[in-house]
Amino acid sequence: MPYGEVKGLLTDIGTEELAHFEMISAILYQLTKDLSIEEIKASGFDTYFVDHTTGIYPVAASGTPFTAAYFQSKGDIITDLHEDMAAEQKARTTYDNILRFADDPDVRDPIKFLREREIVHYQRFGEALRITQDKLDSKNFYACNPVFDKKCGRK
Ligand SMILES: [Fe+2]
Repeated sequence: MPYGEVKGLLTDIGTEELAHFEMISAILYQLTKDLSIEEIKASGFDTYFVDHTTGIYPVAASGTPFTAAYFQSKGDIITDLHEDMAAEQKARTTYDNILRFADDPDVRDPIKFLREREIVHYQRFGEALRITQDKLDSKNFYACNPVFDKKCGRK
């Protein structure tokens, strides 16, 4: 990352995302720690329970475990910032969908907070993209990566 202000912005968002993961994990733990076997069966939580009891295991609602393959780092700042912005919108949509199902205010309120933060992250990634584009040679936006292609466009 050649630009200090973008580097700081990325570090801020990355740190906050780890805190969000902690919040989601705490919500899940609080929702499941005292479930009876009957409640586990009735809620459809039984397959998860067999594999993980009530331990926190990062898995999508569809059952796909989290994997590093979800990180879509391409090594090109323009590409990666667009991917980051798309990821924030996908997270917001997921929170929207959770809010369609959840009626417990102790779940809804933190999810609403996290949803708002995804919107802020989207905007901040947009700032990073603007800063980056302002500093790049506009003729080279998609042709050269200034980190690697030191002589881009020159012989
Ligand atoms: Fe985010």
